[in-house]
Amino acid sequence: MKVAVIFGGKTAERDVSLKSGALVLGALRARGVDAHAFDPAEKGLEALIAGRYERAFIALHGRFGEDGTLQGALEWLGIPYTGSGVLASALAMDKLRTKLLWHAEGLPTPPYEVLGKESNLEAVAKRLRTPLFVKPASEGSSVGMTKVRAAAGLDEAYALAVNYDPVVIAEKFIDGPELTAAILGDDVLPVIRIETPREFYDYEAKYAAGGSTHILPAALKPAQADRAMKLSLEAHRVLGCRGVSRADLRFNGDEFYMLEVNTQPGMTGTSLVPELAAHSGRSFGELVKWIVEDASCNR
Ligand SMILES: Nc1ncnc2c1ncn2[C@@H]1O[C@H](COP(=O)(O)OP(=O)(O)O)[C@@H](O)[C@H]1O
Ligand SMILES: [Mg+2]
Repeated sequence: MKVAVIFGGKTAERDVSLKSGALVLGALRARGVDAHAFDPAEKGLEALIAGRYERAFIALHGRFGEDGTLQGALEWLGIPYTGSGVLASALAMDKLRTKLLWHAEGLPTPPYEVLGKESNLEAVAKRLRTPLFVKPASEGSSVGMTKVRAAAGLDEAYALAVNYDPVVIAEKFIDGPELTAAILGDDVLPVIRIETPREFYDYEAKYAAGGSTHILPAALKPAQADRAMKLSLEAHRVLGCRGVSRADLRFNGDEFYMLEVNTQPGMTGTSLVPELAAHSGRSFGELVKWIVEDASCNR
């Protein structure tokens, strides 16, 4: 089976993708898979057909990798690929549409409002109460996000976020432990708790050594841990995700609030899904093998 590990690309998260992809490629090769690096910033996808690739392992994060566009191209080419399909990828990349669906299904997600040029930011801050999180609807790796402590900061936060997406949301800040869950097909692994000395789990916290501490299993009561896992699996299902995903959530002591689902979770040396898999007895090589075997088309 000839596998293209698609990584690099032109996204804001290229650096992360380069790390994820290199590790995936190494792990597949170590398991005897005929895997090759494929950087869409260097060649067009038609080279997948010319190169007679039978499968694509997607190791791209963010737009043009995680958002359904690449998935659509691979459907068109008829090459089975890893992770979620076109629709689920696009929905999960869009934090606004994600929230609309979760609301409809009764899944808890922080209260929010959409911000626009005309928005009365003072009024938004009054309704939702600060602190608030301002984020572009479609980005990843905490790019373009600001934690705003008072209404006065909303203007600047909006101006930053809108550089990344015309759709910007202000979301109520949920104070309390930050958690994340890995979903593998129909299974959800025990949640991990993330602590960071930084303001929030921003880019540095995510990727710099020592940027965060991981507590596994998260120090939660059994019933709480159970609820966090159930909500995460449900969040994945409501969006129609498949294969591996990672759900981010926060706990305010009473309730869990779903933040987002990542359909192409990081596979770097400090990434959470590989760590969660290892904790439940799956090595990185086994994880990657499961993912590539789960690849499909027509969904
Ligand atoms: N409503 C919120 N309340 C508290 N923290 C938040 C909230 N939204 C985001 N964060 C913080 O910002 C980080 C990144 O936000 P997230 O919505 O997961 O976007 P992404 O990971 O795609 O950049 C989260 O891991 C969390 O630390
Ligand atoms: Mg996140």
